[in-house]
Amino acid sequence: PKSFRVVLLPGDGIGPEVVAEAVKVLEVVSKKSSDFKLSLESHLFGGSAIDASGEPLPASTMKACQEADAILMGSIGGPKWGVNAKVRPEQGLLALRKTLGLYANIRPASLASVSLLDYSPLRPEIARGVDMIVVRELIGGVYFGTRKEQSVEPDVDVAWDTMIYSVQEVQRITRVAAQIALAANPPLVIHSIDKANVLASSRLWRKVVTETLTKEYPQLKFDHHLVDSAAMVIVSNPRKLNGVILTENLFGDILSDQSSVIPGSLGLLPSASLAGAPSVPSPNFKPTLGLYEPIHGSAPDIAGQGIANPIGTILSAAMLLRYSLGLEDAARPSSSLCRKFLIAQRQEGMDYGQRIWEAK
Ligand code: NAD
Ligand code: IPM
Ligand code: MN
Repeated sequence: PKSFRVVLLPGDGIGPEVVAEAVKVLEVVSKKSSDFKLSLESHLFGGSAIDASGEPLPASTMKACQEADAILMGSIGGPKWGVNAKVRPEQGLLALRKTLGLYANIRPASLASVSLLDYSPLRPEIARGVDMIVVRELIGGVYFGTRKEQSVEPDVDVAWDTMIYSVQEVQRITRVAAQIALAANPPLVIHSIDKANVLASSRLWRKVVTETLTKEYPQLKFDHHLVDSAAMVIVSNPRKLNGVILTENLFGDILSDQSSVIPGSLGLLPSASLAGAPSVPSPNFKPTLGLYEPIHGSAPDIAGQGIANPIGTILSAAMLLRYSLGLEDAARPSSSLCRKFLIAQRQEGMDYGQRIWEAK
């Protein structure tokens, strides 16, 4: 059997809790198949790595990730490490994404996989039938531009961050969105989201998206939306944005959390971060390194209580099997296991969905 190395980065807060549940699913699916073996190894990352070694992404963790076939992460960060500290857990995550060149972050927010529709604050007739995939540019924009911290000594009362995009950066993420759109039958519509009425980087974004799609993918339909009104549409008439939502780093961060309201919980949504378009499993599938994580954070308000919803992480593990290892047959049951989890929780009166909204 083929053997794959999967690095686990449980991280902080609810991270270890949700990763433990996903590992159970990975163990079940790998036991059921004689075609492949998974070797799972955990490494320090985030706040717990700062506590142990002084840095959020120790060299040993980075090396293990570079040598792995795929990485499954929980979440990092929390009040213990604050936002004002010099060394912060989040820096480790940004460095990991950047070092591995993972510019394409794919966040499906579809009701097709699993949902807690009856817990969605949206009326069912509004939330029903939503099927959107956020394709978020992950290693550019304001996250990675130059910035200046406000300093007390000498007293400076400004701070700044710069949002930079190059033509090449926009082209490559547009191609990823296009390939995802084309993999569906019929092809999905691409909704590109920007703030071109104000930002220069967004005007470049809009121009390059238009040129790339028109020249290279004339068969695809696409439109442009300004991010403020798109945010309104996501919670008032989300089906209007069914298809692929193509957007830059910060807008994608915000809109993907917002889109989790539709299926009913932030705890449900998975993600894959790749250095290109996901390759569709096929006989000549080439394994590609990817980082897989739920879209939520370390949820300090519920950590340690055993009530964190693990489904976003389990679905991330399913994406890992599919996109990095090419194991479609193993990936599919993971989604149905999620559905069973949801039903079982309800039967036992253990309802994550309700607690999630109560925790807010
Ligand atoms: P969060 O995503 O951790 O939590 C937001 C809310 O959603 C909380 O009420 C939380 O209890 C709830 N929630 C999140 N995941 C849940 C789950 N699986 N099941 C049930 N409820 C869930 O966002 P936050 O509180 O703003 O951030 C906390 C920390 O997490 C910060 O340090 C932030 O930087 C970090 N963070 C990390 C990641 C990551 O590791 N990829 C992502 C987002 C935020
Ligand atoms: C996410 C998180 C990260 C981001 C943080 C923790 C750096 O919010 O993965 O969505 O902003 O990308
Ligand atoms: Mn986020």
